[in-house]
Amino acid sequence: MSKKNTILAIDQGTTSTRSIVFDHDARPLATARAEFAQHYPDHGWVEHDAEEIWRDVVSTARDALEQSGAGDSVAAIGITNQRETIVVWNRETGKPVHRAIVWQDRRTAPLCARMRQEGCEGLVRERTGLLLDPYFSASKLAWILDNVAGARRDAEAGRLAFGTIDSFLLWRLTGGRVHATDVTNASRTLLFDIHRQCWDEDLLRLFNIPRSLLPEVRGNSEIYGETDPALLGRAIPVAGMAGDQQAALVGQACFTPGMAKATYGTGCFVLLNTGEAPVTSANRMLTTIGYRIGGKTVYALEGAIFVAGAAIKWLRDGLHLITHASQTDDMATRIPHSHGVYMVPGFVGLGAPHWDPEARGLICGLTLDATAAHIARAALESVAYQTYDLMEAMAQDGGGLVTTLRVDGGMAANDWFCQFLADILQAGVERPAHLETTATGAAFLAGLACGVWTDLDDVAARWSRGRVFEASMDGAQRQTMLDGWRQAVRRTLTPKA
Ligand code: G3P
Repeated sequence: MSKKNTILAIDQGTTSTRSIVFDHDARPLATARAEFAQHYPDHGWVEHDAEEIWRDVVSTARDALEQSGAGDSVAAIGITNQRETIVVWNRETGKPVHRAIVWQDRRTAPLCARMRQEGCEGLVRERTGLLLDPYFSASKLAWILDNVAGARRDAEAGRLAFGTIDSFLLWRLTGGRVHATDVTNASRTLLFDIHRQCWDEDLLRLFNIPRSLLPEVRGNSEIYGETDPALLGRAIPVAGMAGDQQAALVGQACFTPGMAKATYGTGCFVLLNTGEAPVTSANRMLTTIGYRIGGKTVYALEGAIFVAGAAIKWLRDGLHLITHASQTDDMATRIPHSHGVYMVPGFVGLGAPHWDPEARGLICGLTLDATAAHIARAALESVAYQTYDLMEAMAQDGGGLVTTLRVDGGMAANDWFCQFLADILQAGVERPAHLETTATGAAFLAGLACGVWTDLDDVAARWSRGRVFEASMDGAQRQTMLDGWRQAVRRTLTPKA
């Protein structure tokens, strides 16, 4: 019998699902990927079909397993997922009662605003480390209970289950035997006390959520259950789960306080390891659980910006300026400077540090000689500027000066972007050899639970550097560019009542 030393990681993201088989050196042996439909049923609403996600998970997992030839050597499965997105399903039929409501969805902005006015944010912030924003799960869950016929009645009768995507996938993979989530996904719901690490009765009351809906909360690296043998040919333990940004923190081996990573997917999420004590932000950063492994909890400060890669996707699908994201690298290089053109990509409001759900996108500074290249460059620059805003807020929060930022995700493949980011941050930008660090993190978590890797040092030794970008921009030029950005942001924010 072959040695069990490979891991299947399932990375269920906002726009695609990937299954990757990793070997013992954390090298990807095979990858299968499927893009799925985004549904926009109303202004600011974003939904996914959980059944389509499930089908993609099974088909990509089967594909990756087959292509890799890993066979019996697969020791376990690690799951990582788009966070905050919710599914509510019927425990008996296994069917979702509504399409998944996605983290980007703004339909509950009025509810959150009302709760803020009623003075609820203090309690929410203190217990969860988050803010009262429609981004997080609780208001979306309340919306389903109040708007889907019979949902509240069924929930109160214990007939329904709630979960973030990890939880739904685990439930399906284990043939409906395990209803659980992990601490990182739980910490994004607005219902979980990150200090006591349990569901919080006061918050459940505040959002009017019946306790019976909720999954059991577990650590990030442990055996949750085994897959139904009919799905992947045999029963395989699911041994690691984490929200995608926390998985990337692990995949980037940011195990020491002061280490930070930025993942450029649909959005961009910067997580700074703050060690075993949670740090409360004075600058509207989030306090969140980084990971809990072997009973030890590590916290992180998080800055979340909603649009990063999505801005590049918009250049492609909305404006038809490009046909492939990689073209932006050339376009930005081709012009000597931005020409004062700025884009503030507030397509779904602005996240940290502004938290303005009503803000909308803006392009400014246009003159007649501005070209498609200026707009493409402004989109790339906007992501770097937003990262700068987050890093600055974290430094003010006592997170210390981050001298090196580890980057990953699609945009990290863009050399021009990485160099500009280093220039604007005035810090080193370190890119790993393999950019799929989210899936790598899920693999590490699963592999740690079943002995493929022995401890975090063993895991850190598998992280391999690809390229480092060092700051080289002139200080005065950088300052002028940052000033222009701040002005553009001011024009984007909604006037506060
Ligand atoms: O909080 C949302 C985040 O987890 C989504 O990540 O990579 O799908 O944009 P991504």
